[in-house]
Amino acid sequence: RFGRYRRVYDSIDSTNLDALRWAAEEGAAEGSLVVSDVQTAGRGRWGRSWVSAPGSALLFSVVLRPRVSIDAGLLTAAAGLAVADGIQRASGLPTMLKWPNDVLVAGRKVAGILVEARTGGSAGDASGNAVVVGAGINLHWRRDEIPADLGESATSIAAEIEVGNGQRVPARAELLAAVLTRLDNLYGHLTAQGGGEILSAASARSAVIGKRVTVRFADGTDASGVATGIAPNGGLVLDDERVITAGEIERLRPTSARGQ
Ligand code: BTN
Repeated sequence: RFGRYRRVYDSIDSTNLDALRWAAEEGAAEGSLVVSDVQTAGRGRWGRSWVSAPGSALLFSVVLRPRVSIDAGLLTAAAGLAVADGIQRASGLPTMLKWPNDVLVAGRKVAGILVEARTGGSAGDASGNAVVVGAGINLHWRRDEIPADLGESATSIAAEIEVGNGQRVPARAELLAAVLTRLDNLYGHLTAQGGGEILSAASARSAVIGKRVTVRFADGTDASGVATGIAPNGGLVLDDERVITAGEIERLRPTSARGQ
């Protein structure tokens, strides 16, 4: 189902933007896929840009048209899990999730996910409600090609592969197929049965739960505490029972580092 209809570009402004336009202007069906080698205006969270060199990454977006209302946080968790599982299956690398939707290998970010919604139109109007799930997976970057400003925080599949350890750098198409198959499966599960199993799977893969975190909010304020779980809406639960639905983890420390 996912990828049956597709647009494949050498270069586009942003696969998320193209998928949103496709949904709005031509009623792109659920599962429609946009892939590009390069983006000239790749979008990250909180208005940041997402940059990758030609041939170095897998960049794609999928249009979803959920018939039931789904919390954005749950969709984000399902997308994170699909990318994490897809990378692990195609490359053999162990992956973890950093709430809300970064995928880590060896503690460094290997992929980012951006879920964007378009609302409008009347019920049944093909150009109406659509959600776009976009992912950027760093695939072929060598360690010395990773931009200095990303420092130690970013990595790629190629940079982490240990030859002879059953791990390998997959072809882009193979990686895409592994992620889309998993996303199709998790999304089907989410719409039919709700988010229970997805949340337990995302919690089991979390690099955050059990750690002391500082979460930064869009308005510049922050909250600190020990992350204890993922809430039913996909939010992060802190040890004082607060549920954080929108934020970004700025610091992640073992609980023994209290007060540092
Ligand atoms: C983040 O970590 O800030 C999210 C990054 C998401 C990047 C991907 S690349 C493909 C898709 N198209 C975009 O413009 N952004 C997402």
